[in-house]
Amino acid sequence: MISKWDHINNKIEHYSANACLAPVVSVHGCAVTTVEGIGSTKTKLHAVQERLAKFHGSQCGFCTPGIVMSMYALLRNKPVPSAEDIEGCLQGNLCRCTGYRPILSAFQTFSDSTSGCPMGTSCCKLNGAEKTEGNLELNCDPHASSGVCFSHYDPTQEIIFPPELLTKSCELASKPLKFVGERITWFRPTSLDELTSLRKTYPDSQLVNGNTEIGVETGVKGRLFKVIVNPSAISKLKEIVADDKGVKFGAACTLTQIKEELTKMVKTDQSFQTQWMAAFLEMLHWFAGDQIRNVAAIGGNTMTASPISDLNPILMANESMATFRLHSRAKDRQVLMDQSFFPKYRTTCAEKGEVLISVFLPFNAKDEYMKAYKQSKRREDDIAIVNAAMRVVFHPGTCKVLKFVAAFGGMAATSVMPEKTMQNMIGREWKEDLVDDFSKWISEDLFLDKGAPGGMVEYREALVVSFFFKFFLHVKSCRVKEGAKDGIISKDESSALEKPAYNLKQFGTRTWQEVPPNQPEEDKVGRDVQHVSGIKHTTGEAVYVDDIPQYKDELYLAHVISTRAHAFIRNVDIQKAMMSPGFVTYLDDRDVPGTNTVTVLKSDEQIFAKEKVTCVGQIIGAVVADSQAHAQRAAQLVQVEYEDIDPVIITIKDAIKHKSYFPPPVRLIDGDADVAMETCDHVIEGEISVGGQEHFYMETQAALALPVGEDGEMEIFSATQDLDFMQRQVAASLNVERNKIRVRCKRIGGGFGGKQLRSWLVCLPVAVAANKCGKPVRCMLPRKDDMLMTGGRHPFYANYKVGFMNSGKVQSIKVQLFSNCGHTYDHSVPILSVAVAKFSNAYNFPNIHLEGIACKTNVASNTAFRGYGGPQGLFVAENLLNNVAEYLTIPQEKIREINMLKSGDITCYSHKIENPQLRRCWDECLAKSDFYSRKTRCEEFNKRSRWRKRGLACIPLLHFLTFPHFLCQAGALVNIYTDGSVSVTHGGTEMGQGLHTKIIQIAGRCLGIPVSRIHISETTTASVPNASATVASISSDMYGMAVQYACDELMRRLNPIRKQFPELDWNNLINKAYMNRVSLSATGFYNMPGFNWSWNFDIGKIEGNYVQYYTNGAAVSEVEVDCLTGVHVVLQTDIVMDVGRSLNPAIDIGQIEGGFVQGYGMFTMEEPLHTPSGHLLTVGPGAYKIPGFGDCPRQFNVHLLRNSENDKAIYSSKGIGEPPLLLACVVFFAIENAVSAARKDSGLFGSFRLNSPATAESIRMACGDKFSKQHEFHKSDGNNKLPWSIRA
Ligand SMILES: Cc1cc2nc3c(=O)[nH]c(=O)nc-3n(C[C@H](O)[C@H](O)[C@H](O)COP(=O)(O)OP(=O)(O)OC[C@H]3O[C@@H](n4cnc5c(N)ncnc54)[C@H](O)[C@@H]3O)c2cc1C
Ligand code: FES
Repeated sequence: MISKWDHINNKIEHYSANACLAPVVSVHGCAVTTVEGIGSTKTKLHAVQERLAKFHGSQCGFCTPGIVMSMYALLRNKPVPSAEDIEGCLQGNLCRCTGYRPILSAFQTFSDSTSGCPMGTSCCKLNGAEKTEGNLELNCDPHASSGVCFSHYDPTQEIIFPPELLTKSCELASKPLKFVGERITWFRPTSLDELTSLRKTYPDSQLVNGNTEIGVETGVKGRLFKVIVNPSAISKLKEIVADDKGVKFGAACTLTQIKEELTKMVKTDQSFQTQWMAAFLEMLHWFAGDQIRNVAAIGGNTMTASPISDLNPILMANESMATFRLHSRAKDRQVLMDQSFFPKYRTTCAEKGEVLISVFLPFNAKDEYMKAYKQSKRREDDIAIVNAAMRVVFHPGTCKVLKFVAAFGGMAATSVMPEKTMQNMIGREWKEDLVDDFSKWISEDLFLDKGAPGGMVEYREALVVSFFFKFFLHVKSCRVKEGAKDGIISKDESSALEKPAYNLKQFGTRTWQEVPPNQPEEDKVGRDVQHVSGIKHTTGEAVYVDDIPQYKDELYLAHVISTRAHAFIRNVDIQKAMMSPGFVTYLDDRDVPGTNTVTVLKSDEQIFAKEKVTCVGQIIGAVVADSQAHAQRAAQLVQVEYEDIDPVIITIKDAIKHKSYFPPPVRLIDGDADVAMETCDHVIEGEISVGGQEHFYMETQAALALPVGEDGEMEIFSATQDLDFMQRQVAASLNVERNKIRVRCKRIGGGFGGKQLRSWLVCLPVAVAANKCGKPVRCMLPRKDDMLMTGGRHPFYANYKVGFMNSGKVQSIKVQLFSNCGHTYDHSVPILSVAVAKFSNAYNFPNIHLEGIACKTNVASNTAFRGYGGPQGLFVAENLLNNVAEYLTIPQEKIREINMLKSGDITCYSHKIENPQLRRCWDECLAKSDFYSRKTRCEEFNKRSRWRKRGLACIPLLHFLTFPHFLCQAGALVNIYTDGSVSVTHGGTEMGQGLHTKIIQIAGRCLGIPVSRIHISETTTASVPNASATVASISSDMYGMAVQYACDELMRRLNPIRKQFPELDWNNLINKAYMNRVSLSATGFYNMPGFNWSWNFDIGKIEGNYVQYYTNGAAVSEVEVDCLTGVHVVLQTDIVMDVGRSLNPAIDIGQIEGGFVQGYGMFTMEEPLHTPSGHLLTVGPGAYKIPGFGDCPRQFNVHLLRNSENDKAIYSSKGIGEPPLLLACVVFFAIENAVSAARKDSGLFGSFRLNSPATAESIRMACGDKFSKQHEFHKSDGNNKLPWSIRA
């Protein structure tokens, strides 16, 4: 948070900002408050920190400081914010773990609306909550009902603005500044004269205001501007002046400043004059997040001339006037902001040296209407795909168009005005036929060819017409309201105008089974104990690899990676890099003392590519330098010459064409699908694709290697889920025995499978570098490189044939599943096997023939990702069942029930079902969600709503826990010290999933001591060797048991003393034991029984016991879709999950909410895209969208099934990390149902193909109405061009 004295309003201004975009010189004279400054474990927690931790609002904790500071900045400006304020201030923050629900709940305790429960008459307080059930009715007086107590927030106790800054504020603000750095000189003039003279002296200087555009250029793209002039302290450029003609904004006015002023003006003047203000405000709501709006200026937005600027279309449509001043002229010139303002891509009509002084927007006149629109991939904090502003002026008293002005972004290289269309509109009556004519005219004005940058060409064209249709209706409805006699708004039409339901307040409930009443208070198993690192996450004290203090002489490593998908390396030139400041050395395969080969399951990867590269992002070498900045800059200077190799295989279809596979095919066969198909009443065939997914853990891959200095010993701090694998690979690459390598991990900032194997991409190069240099070497991948190099979830394509009876019973299924593995094997075939095995989910398909084919392509190697193939396999089967339902016109939920597995059934993986919990979850979920009556309401809604449709779906889940036999082993070490404190080490890593918290709860019960006496410092290969990776939802089962065994052993040793001295408390007992020379250190080793299976891919049979137990669940989701834009909102999600007897319900529910939202992203929003030549386009948060706060289901209810036991895991618990993610496809199917309703209105019946993810683009185009059809791609032009992007 930045605080400074505001001279214009004479007050202290507090605002949040992105540290990575705020040059340190820009905060001269300001107070900067970081998360460490507001509270700590050593002093006192701030209320924001305390409540977030107590509401379980952090998991891995990597996002937490940012979230704390956004909320803190809001409270500093508004101590009692509204729920909307809270959601608004978090628009610019992301969390990959929690699913947002608990964060919102924590912060809503600050809001003014906690007294009014959004549950209305269903409020637990009104009905009386059950005593035996843990209830946390969010927003519903959480102080009392949840038992969560937190301290009162007293805004008067906040840290004061530093007095010395206050006394010097005038001087600081009026003094021109100049900072000279190693490479850059930065000026901050305080008057226009100074600014113009600086521009004259430095004609090539770069103007920078909020730095939110230029900061990306320099930070991400590595551009260098040697002289920067920052005009933000020139008061004339900060003015907002309104007169009787309109409002003038100084070019340096921030968007937040503008928002505040316009809000005041609209409040006082609701007239037609302020229409553009309302449009501006609406647009600003969807413009980035607070951190950007607080510093970004209107001048920066205009002058950067982005074709997708959100403000430029509004300025253009309103015939705004820009005022410029040239350095050589004292006089200002004024320019109309029309088409000629942006002559070409990223260029304005400003002359060299000219500075934008202000922008003037005239008030709207009578008989004039205007509105703006924006569509992006994600609603919040995302740049536009297409945006628009339209204004129409009528001949007074008529509906005849006098003037029509429109401007669109995202439809050309600049913001554009469709001149012919605008001309054609003049004189036309505002009647229905105008929409059709507009569609024809606009397709000539705004035409995109197939290869247009940005892709989505058909969608963008359809959006333009859809926006106009909305505008047409908006104007019509305004006129109707004003009493015009020339039209009425039909029900159909009004559905296109109504506010989307995302304005509904977010809330949710969580219910679980309480522990038995006789369980001692001290025994925390089964209780909602807070994450052991929760507080440290919120205070910023939690230590990740990058937080480890710098070692003496430490060096930094930056990778040199391939920019070609398939090519020979002809030459690597490091001359320029060597000249770069701080350069220490360059590494390639010749520097690896041991093996350069990396062996995951096959030995097909190299630390440093030798002769050829097989994907973009593959490591060729690395630069080591004395700092992060120096290493990264030098790495950019390494020049690699390539010779391309044919073919370049990117997509699954390419791989099929070239027969590029990793053999053998994975087969699972039960019954005889071909014979059974013959006897079926109906047979249908189809195809479907499921896209990949980027892990997007908040902490990118990171490692630090520390040579010990003797015997080849090396210590490695690695953010990895698999320390054992890293130890093995480092030892092999350094040619030393594993006992010389100690791998350590305190915690990781999210892993989701992506840090199981791919961590070697950082770990091995730093180890080789540390070995070569004899010094500590660290590396944390820049987000862009992490996304390019590390792969993600495998995209799948499936073709299927299904035979079924009139009753809906599926008799036979034949499916081929193809997965895109990328250029190396990694875990691709095991992942494909899980996709095949989990295909049949909760259903009994008596005859099934599944074949999985692993495709080898030239993209980064795809790898493990939460669910490990399960989500893709299950999705295909659920899609297929929906096809059956559609074909037979039997409700989808009935088809699911007809085919659902029952006790006694044998699955296709030869496992007998003895499991009534699946049906219980299903029935409870239908009942708790009020499924049937909501389904009726949905249908009624759809009948009266043409352009907004609702969809409801329900999915069951039978998720089995399986693991390779040899990996089902776990070790732990428990030490008791003479002061009675206990240290536990086990082989699992803490990555946010709360493993350490659960382990401490288990140890507390076993030893009979408070959890506060137990500490887990880290995971290390030195304490627990040969540990299996922390994956597959199995770690609390395995490591929990190992810890229990160790504790039991200790208690066995202590019991004789306890019996002899029953009066001794724990500390004295331990002391006595020590004095009696009893060993207070024990290891535990758990060898999970039960697993003993083998899979013969040739005959398609699994022999032995493949399944340990099932984690069951069911989910219902309801969505609303805007058929004109493709936007959807999840209105409600209800989940019933069987986690046995939960070890920690708060953590388990956190996993369910977080896993579900991550899966929701996979099935609806997250879409990795490549160029046809294999470059990943979606690198960084700007291009790749994971769900944000606003995407959390508006109502999100999670219930843990009661009275469920599990004799296969510790204390009757169940693994929960992965299963909820699979349930998230329920949202996809709800969307599909809504789209289906829309298609029926367009006369399109029967099943249709909607691939996953159901992005706004695919939803909109699948709706198949006259606007989308009209704008199907122009076949005549540009067809021979390659598309801009493809899905791998
Ligand atoms: C996370 C993120 C989200 C974003 N979301 C959006 C979004 O939703 N919609 C959108 O439209 N944009 C978005 N942007 C882009 C950017 O924030 C805006 O364009 C912003 O308005 C730029 O303002 P600035 O002051 O930061 O510009 P700066 O980076 O300071 O400057 C941008 C350009 O404008 C020029 N310039 C600045 N002031 C003047 C002047 N007075 N005279 C002449 N030239 C001048 C500079 O020389 C520079 O070339 C986003 C950016 C980020 C990083
Ligand atoms: S807790 Fe938010 S990203 Fe992990």
